[in-house]
Amino acid sequence: MDDPSLPQEKSLDRMKRQAGYHAAGMVEDGMVIGLGTGSTTFYAMERLAFLIEEGLRIQGVPTSFQTEMLARELRIPLTTLDTYPELDLAIDGADQVDPSLRLIKGRGAALTREKCVAAAAQHLVIIVDASKCVGALDGPVPLEVIPFALHPVILGIRALGGIPELRSGIRKDGPVITDNGNFILDCSFGSIDEPERLEGILTLMPGVLSCGLFCEFVEKSIVVVGSEDGCRELKHVDLTG
Ligand code: 5RP
Repeated sequence: MDDPSLPQEKSLDRMKRQAGYHAAGMVEDGMVIGLGTGSTTFYAMERLAFLIEEGLRIQGVPTSFQTEMLARELRIPLTTLDTYPELDLAIDGADQVDPSLRLIKGRGAALTREKCVAAAAQHLVIIVDASKCVGALDGPVPLEVIPFALHPVILGIRALGGIPELRSGIRKDGPVITDNGNFILDCSFGSIDEPERLEGILTLMPGVLSCGLFCEFVEKSIVVVGSEDGCRELKHVDLTG
């Protein structure tokens, strides 16, 4: 039976649509933008496709094969970081957002390209439903790990007190293989007291391509939190006064 205290799926979808459509409305004519990955980004892209039909001219850099395929389907013009190493903004989802706008990302295993695009963007617009906002980051932190280094990285995570779990495929036997040909280790640390410090340590482990903690973008981030009947924007400047 459904837990009545949790928002039902339809309601979650409404929240995601609110956030996605709001973010699409922040895109201006002529912009080159990063296109994140996931079900909330889907709504932003759906709205962008509509706006493009209405005359909006933009180009997008996709962060995954999934997003690239969807963009082609929706006729959103695509480009690359080779052509545009600097982007006007990036729109992406997140798995958890804390009150300082630090994130955990990577449920879709697209964290490496998502981090590249976030770093290249002047502004990062994170779109989430209200269930993603937490008091402290405590979800599993995905790491993209090159297969060669899997076992040393597992030992390293255990030495930090974490519990690493190799992500398995659904409708595929064996591990998930990322768009870059690597594995994903989901690492549980409980409540994360110092996310910046942990991100630094994890990122420096040999064989770790990237870490799903996103702490370095807070100053250029706007988090759009969708609710059933609208959304609110959270910005670093508002938090720091
Ligand atoms: C993919 C991601 C996604 O942006 C994140 O998992 C949120 O996805 P969704 O909007 O479907 O909840 O980081 O790697």
